[in-house]
Amino acid sequence: MGADHDHSADSKLTDIDHVGIAVHDLDATIAWYQQMFGASVAHRERIESDGVDEALIKVADSYIQLLTPFTDTSPLAKYMERNGEGIHHVGYRVDSCDEVLEHVKAQGARVVDEHPRTGSRGTTVAFLHPKSSFGTLIELVEE
Ligand code: CO
Repeated sequence: MGADHDHSADSKLTDIDHVGIAVHDLDATIAWYQQMFGASVAHRERIESDGVDEALIKVADSYIQLLTPFTDTSPLAKYMERNGEGIHHVGYRVDSCDEVLEHVKAQGARVVDEHPRTGSRGTTVAFLHPKSSFGTLIELVEE
């Protein structure tokens, strides 16, 4: 970083929106975060298109997104068969999901979503494929 120029001002990533964590038992995990950290759920939602139930725990301006599949055909269920519980993806906040998605595609990134779609809390989201992002499933989140 140059001494006279703050490169962070150029970043398309404005914040960490959430860390997505895959679990088998949503209620047990919520109770654990409450017991260990006094943290409580800010939002719960069934995301039909992804086949998951989520619970969002607020941490400062970001969230922990606890996820569990409600059907065996959910992509998350198949992921958990191979990898078990744990950190599943990172959601980065962006000003324009569409603009950043088009940019990364033009730069050669593999994407899961060719076009932005509706995520939880009415956000607009798109996923990048972990194969071209060094093993991390990345979600772009526009509030
Ligand atoms: Co997410």
